[in-house]
Amino acid sequence: MATPLVIDTDPGIDDALAILLALASPEVDLRLVTTVHGNVELAQTTDNALRVLHLAGRSDVPVAAGARDSLVYRQPERAGHVHGETGLGGVRLAASPAAPDPRPAVVSLAEVLLAAEAPVTVAAIGPWTNVALLLATYPEAAERIGRLVLMGGSAARGGNVTAAAEFNVWADPEAAQRVLGSGVPTVLVGLDVTLPTVLDDDGIARFAAAGPVGATAAAILQQYVDHARTSYGTSGVVLHDALALTEAIVPGTLGTVRRDVVVDTTLGAGRGQTLVDRRAVSDSPTAVEVAETVDSAAAVEFLVGRIEALARSAG
Ligand code: RIB
Ligand code: CA
Repeated sequence: MATPLVIDTDPGIDDALAILLALASPEVDLRLVTTVHGNVELAQTTDNALRVLHLAGRSDVPVAAGARDSLVYRQPERAGHVHGETGLGGVRLAASPAAPDPRPAVVSLAEVLLAAEAPVTVAAIGPWTNVALLLATYPEAAERIGRLVLMGGSAARGGNVTAAAEFNVWADPEAAQRVLGSGVPTVLVGLDVTLPTVLDDDGIARFAAAGPVGATAAAILQQYVDHARTSYGTSGVVLHDALALTEAIVPGTLGTVRRDVVVDTTLGAGRGQTLVDRRAVSDSPTAVEVAETVDSAAAVEFLVGRIEALARSAG
């Protein structure tokens, strides 16, 4: 039986690929998408989620909008320079016939969790504001989370939005601290495993050759490719969120170690840094499984193969 899945997301180019990957994977049953502020504003992330689902012929999946801002300190700086002003690399996807779910994200998430016939995997691939609100508002629903797969943080690779912080944690450090200390079974998929996992031009070309959905995915990625080339001089792209979804779809894809993690929630230069205690394997009930090793080639091939199959089936 497919594992019930919810994706909390801020589409976002790599978010879009992650959503398509989930739709291409029979191991999981995508029950709900909840949206959050992050790469672009909430209204845009919500519209983008609807359009990506429609692109794949899955406008049946409900999309519920959540937090438009961080819990404590406003963090208005978005990532339009990375993801394009619309958040999907300047590609204008067709509007979805579906409207956003009328329920707030936290309510829809709680209802899906409480109604699920099996423990639900929740993949949070934007700032974790909605997850923190769920934990505080519906703890009984949070207990129905079988696995919480978080894209964010960094143990030993520094930051990407600042020298110290990865974007999703930096966008709401207080939410990140709340989520990482929740005791929910959690896998933290951070820069340590995403940065080495690079999709190159050949992989993108395979998307493009697989049909209109693949060609659209390749077009969406072009902004990411251009940004990587001009900013880092690299020829490939890091699909952070797609790797997190790969772990959600195939548990154990990543090599993890149980670690204590705290978040720097001060207002100084280290704000948003995840301080991972790598001195020991932790037996703390609030420790998390930190992803420390990855077979990047296998992960890229998994992604490309699944997107190709999705594109071919969509015609
Ligand atoms: O640091 C990478 C994360 O920040 C990804 O989720 C990407 O979509 C951006 O939100
Ligand atoms: Ca994201």
